[in-house]
Amino acid sequence: MPHIHIKKEWEISDNLATPESTYLRRREFLKGTALTTAATVGVLYGCGPSSPPNVFPEVKWNALEKSIYPAKRNPMYELDRPITAEKIAATYNNFYEFGSGKIDPVHYAQKLNTRPWAIQVGGLVNKPTTFDMDDLLKTMSLEERVLRLRCVEAWAMAVPWIGFPFSELLKKVEPKAEATYVRLETFYQPFTAQGQLAFWEPWPYVEGLTIKEAMNELAFLATGIYGHPLPKQHGAPIRLVVPWKYGFKSIKSIVKIELVNYRPATFWNTLQGLEYDFTANVDPRIPHPRWPQTREKMIDTGDIRPTLPYNGYGEFVAKMYT
Ligand code: MTE
Repeated sequence: MPHIHIKKEWEISDNLATPESTYLRRREFLKGTALTTAATVGVLYGCGPSSPPNVFPEVKWNALEKSIYPAKRNPMYELDRPITAEKIAATYNNFYEFGSGKIDPVHYAQKLNTRPWAIQVGGLVNKPTTFDMDDLLKTMSLEERVLRLRCVEAWAMAVPWIGFPFSELLKKVEPKAEATYVRLETFYQPFTAQGQLAFWEPWPYVEGLTIKEAMNELAFLATGIYGHPLPKQHGAPIRLVVPWKYGFKSIKSIVKIELVNYRPATFWNTLQGLEYDFTANVDPRIPHPRWPQTREKMIDTGDIRPTLPYNGYGEFVAKMYT
């Protein structure tokens, strides 16, 4: 029987749900301003294929990674829905450094060199440390967590991340008592990640959490997914996963983590503060200024589901906000 889809009033098109910066970027192109940059970035955005590829690039494993993936699943995190097909999750990404289309990151992020990779952790800590990615992997005990991810654009997926609790990394550097926030930063390589040539946007991508949120057991640093190392389009070699918050908080390809005593400026909040707040907890009662947040669409099946407060993780995190 053919499946006839009748659009409900609350359903939004992907276009409508495009973050503000994409509109700004397109408008810039149309206006013909910033010609040099627009021309360069235009090459990137203009040439992206329009439909998902049948095959996506194979993830390369180094010798160490062969000895640590896959990791044992932590049974504490249970899903209420099937895991999203990998082929969809890995070809429908937001990674604006590599383009504003969902299909752009799988193509253009492959240019990013993820080894060697250093993560500098400092600020208000007793033991500031720069970790080499592979050295860090050797010291961490990895686990798999199947978690929902809810994008502010009203789509959702459910994926098996592999990594370790953020708190385990923070404990290594011994945060000082006066540290109240954590600031996380993505690499800045505008000639590799040509989205960063858009000088009117506040690159590099920066995100932040309160120290309490960062130490919460649900805050996770992912280095793998679907039983293997993280592909570049998902934020290799290390990205944040904070599943009770909208996806834009889950910053990819982290190079710097700083403990601070002020609320850090963040990428989306700086671009459009009225649309993307700092806390960004998933909440069906608070609409985005341009669309409702009461429902979400699974990216693989197209199933429409009610949005859950804290994306269904209230038992772990609600206590932080009372
Ligand atoms: N991190 C960086 N550095 N750049 C980005 O553009 N996009 C965010 C987040 N992390 C983004 C990022 C958004 S909006 C979402 S929804 C998730 O990554 C998407 O993660 P995924 O592509 O692995 O599904």
